[in-house]
Amino acid sequence: MAKEFKRYLITSALPYANGPVHIGHLAGVYVPSDIYTRYLRMRGRDVVSVCGSDEHGVPITIKARKEGVSPQAVVDRYHEIIKDSFSRLGISFDIYSRTSSPTHRVTASDFFRKLYDEGKFIERTSMQYYDEEAGTFLADRYIVGTCPRCGNDRAYGDQCEKCGSTLSPDELIEPRSAVSGAVPVKRETKHWYLPLDKYEGFLRRWILEGHKEWKSNVYGQCKSWLDLGLQPRAVSRDLDWGIPVPVEGAEGKVLYVWFDAPIGYISATKDLTPDWEKYWKDGGTKMVHFIGKDNIVFHCIVFPSMLEAHGGYILPENVPANEFLNLEGDKISTSRNWAVWLHEYLDEFPGKEDVLRYVLCANAPETKDNDFTWRDFQARNNNELVAILGNFVNRALVLTKKYYDGVVPACGELTDYDRATIAEIGGIKASLEADIENYRFREALKDAMNFARIGNKYLADTEPWKVVKNDPERVKTILNIALQITANITVAIEPFMPFSADKILKMLNLERMSWDGLGSMSLVASGHVIDEPALLFEKIEDDVIEAQLKKLADIKAANAAAEAAAHVMAQKEEIAFDDFGKMDIRVSTILAAEKVAKTKKLLKLTVDTGIDKRTIVSGIAEHFAPEELVGRQVLVLVNLAPRELKGITSNGMILMAEDATGKLVLLGPENKVNDGAIVG
Ligand code: MF3
Ligand code: ZN
Repeated sequence: MAKEFKRYLITSALPYANGPVHIGHLAGVYVPSDIYTRYLRMRGRDVVSVCGSDEHGVPITIKARKEGVSPQAVVDRYHEIIKDSFSRLGISFDIYSRTSSPTHRVTASDFFRKLYDEGKFIERTSMQYYDEEAGTFLADRYIVGTCPRCGNDRAYGDQCEKCGSTLSPDELIEPRSAVSGAVPVKRETKHWYLPLDKYEGFLRRWILEGHKEWKSNVYGQCKSWLDLGLQPRAVSRDLDWGIPVPVEGAEGKVLYVWFDAPIGYISATKDLTPDWEKYWKDGGTKMVHFIGKDNIVFHCIVFPSMLEAHGGYILPENVPANEFLNLEGDKISTSRNWAVWLHEYLDEFPGKEDVLRYVLCANAPETKDNDFTWRDFQARNNNELVAILGNFVNRALVLTKKYYDGVVPACGELTDYDRATIAEIGGIKASLEADIENYRFREALKDAMNFARIGNKYLADTEPWKVVKNDPERVKTILNIALQITANITVAIEPFMPFSADKILKMLNLERMSWDGLGSMSLVASGHVIDEPALLFEKIEDDVIEAQLKKLADIKAANAAAEAAAHVMAQKEEIAFDDFGKMDIRVSTILAAEKVAKTKKLLKLTVDTGIDKRTIVSGIAEHFAPEELVGRQVLVLVNLAPRELKGITSNGMILMAEDATGKLVLLGPENKVNDGAIVG
């Protein structure tokens, strides 16, 4: 028997306020958490859903430094963007708070202080990198150097983004400070550590023995952490942005962001209700953490150990972490701008909030990483939302309008086929509930869509538009059943697509119904008058998708160019002055230019070098059209040994500059000079 709970506390990972929210966050965390929460509310459960911005930590100070503004300005801006975009997508948190709030500062500070006073931390001094020019200790992210694994010369002290290795600052070759560029020195510093090793027994009993039902990706990650053995973890940092360590002699030190952020769930609940303690301290509460896989260790190992150390708090009942969503085959990346940003989507696709919710749920990375593609987005909209859901609802309503002027007809005698259909409808509820309660939201969404599939098949098989000619009584029953199915749909899809549920309810001229009604064939009374039918979803055309793909292609090209531009070729080996003196370079005018037949790259040029008129074959046909070259003055190496190219003898070389992106420019005198002028 599953444990019965009196109330629910749903938490969703607090997004870092150093950038907007993208589809990866949504598919992994916020769409599933919202489906679960809306479902529980519809069932009349006592549920609160809390979230907020995670406003401390190094990524925020880095962003602020890059933009030349204060960290507070950064978090203020993104907090608003994130909060607003969540609400526009219908993510229905009961509170969206922030970790810079006064409540949180006190809550996190008191939490630390209690553990400190009770001797739950250990103090350690260690040597850490210090930037003497900037007068500051350097967080791992602030140290750059060469990766010992792949040679990338811009690896960070915690990670190399090129090869993906996890690093420690000590491993970096030739470390430099990202703040000042100075070579950092080692300095002694004191920090407080939570001795996780002491909580191993507790964690093993609680997770490995007590929560075998957790998703295998989550359980597996916990098991491997525990099997590797836990180490004490520092819970403070040398940083000037965060919650000050509430201990004497800790000037310049703040709580580590991963210590304060999860306490944000508690502070948010406090900000929501004076009754917060019953959600956090009563064993009758079921707490569920919605997170992405990179957060598993913090929510399953670190935060529970903190709660255990503190005492008096409940632990999460489940942590249904998702894997990652990729975008068009590549890892989503905030720094490379490789993402579909929620606030941009909402502006570009007004009225299509549910389409995104639908696609992200249908494609959620529940058991493995998944890919979002714009083609799949289009196909799911056109073939599923328009063709199945929209089509059924529209037919049921339009026919009712047409035959009965919108008055719901009574249900007459049932055929065997009617009974079979009704039984099928009645049977979905149980699996829909089981799927949601077990965090299988993709399956649950299919269950919900089955109402429309069954409805479509029912109309196609019973053909009311034909039957109406010789048996109008029968059509009344058919449409009554179709309208009952439509009403069922409003209940079944509400957790997933709340905007569409409301639109259908409006067309049905009905109020929201409780979950209990699901499966019932008497949700709409005969004689009830429905409202005007309108299209629920519209087809998305190719040009819309192509514009999005173009946008991504442009980002990819810009990234590649920036990446290449950042790399300048190293200087060649030293040469003697005389070596240079051997080259005879002359200003020359291009007299004629033509493509060399059957080649892609070669141009045959005739140039006046001042000494003579000669032929030069140059591999620049992909960069310049022949006509734009004629008349230009360029620099020519005239004493280069002749070469045969495609049967043409080339006498010399045109000089140009090429950067790492492959961009070519011709070199020439700034002002016209006589051909034959010597360069040197
Ligand atoms: N900001 C973190 C991230 O985006 C998540 C913090 S979750 C909390 O990965 F538990 F710490 F709040
Ligand atoms: Zn590397």
